[in-house]
Amino acid sequence: MGLAIGVDVGGTKVAAGVVDEDGRILDKVRYPTPASSEAATADVIGDAVEELIGRHEVSAVGIGAAGFVDENRSTVLFAPNLAWRDEPLKELLSQRVDVPVVVENDANAMAWAEYRFGAGRGEDYLVCITLGTGIGGGIVLNGQMFRGKFGFGAEVGHFRVVPHGRRCGCGQRGCWEQYASGRALVAEAQDLALTQPDIAEGLLKRAEGDVGGIEGAMITDLAKQGDPGAVWAFERVADWTGQGLATLAAILDPGRFVLGGGVSDAGDVLLEPVLASFRRNITGRSFRKVPDIRIAEFGSEAGIIGAADLARV
Ligand code: BGC
Ligand code: NA
Ligand code: ZN
Repeated sequence: MGLAIGVDVGGTKVAAGVVDEDGRILDKVRYPTPASSEAATADVIGDAVEELIGRHEVSAVGIGAAGFVDENRSTVLFAPNLAWRDEPLKELLSQRVDVPVVVENDANAMAWAEYRFGAGRGEDYLVCITLGTGIGGGIVLNGQMFRGKFGFGAEVGHFRVVPHGRRCGCGQRGCWEQYASGRALVAEAQDLALTQPDIAEGLLKRAEGDVGGIEGAMITDLAKQGDPGAVWAFERVADWTGQGLATLAAILDPGRFVLGGGVSDAGDVLLEPVLASFRRNITGRSFRKVPDIRIAEFGSEAGIIGAADLARV
């Protein structure tokens, strides 16, 4: 089927790429996500796709979006961390280009990229988790993308880990993504800086004394250097991550988990405590086979690669 375009729509940027059948990105464009409206975002997606279509012969377009996408792979019905409500992305884009368009959940796209070409290759029972602003999930079962009945299967960020817990953008409380996402990492580090400034000395120094200025990349950077406060924040998030993965293993029994999203840029700083927590929390561990856990291979490009490849399927 040749080349396809994948689009990754995030809170700050719209990135689109032309992807070949081996998962390689041949050409790429990026635009800032307009702050004004969702309609403006759809326009930018259209501009990016038209630009690439002008330069390559493509057979399909896939858009990865951070929310609940309907079973027809057409409309973003709801996005807990963005303003999208009933956004008919497929229809809007189809008015501008004449190749088939599909809309996919962003984490499904990422999972598919890792399954086909990356850290999940060869594993037909794969669960991918993206730890970013929220937590996304993508599940491949028996080599097929699992979407559920209505399209929103694998919304693992919203399984409840704490009854009556922290408020979530989805309107519920105690969702996993409030404890184990990039946002949770920042919240842990900021909380530490407020309550135990001596342990958070390194973080506070980097943020020039401003607790509100402590952000994700900074925590990752310091944790890699062994800074105690940053490492502590990662251990907290890793503990919650491992607990969640243990629960998912009880339900799905995958052969492998892949961890992606911004938090996974920390590599072993994240992976080691996640593995430890997972082993502590998995049920029946001495009597069962245990899936392995790996860091994603494609980083921020997974969304483009997976959305393009899913558009071809
Ligand atoms: C949304 C998912 C999305 C994930 C990662 C969650 O809050 O519910 O649809 O995949 O964030 O962006
Ligand atoms: Na998903
Ligand atoms: Zn939620």
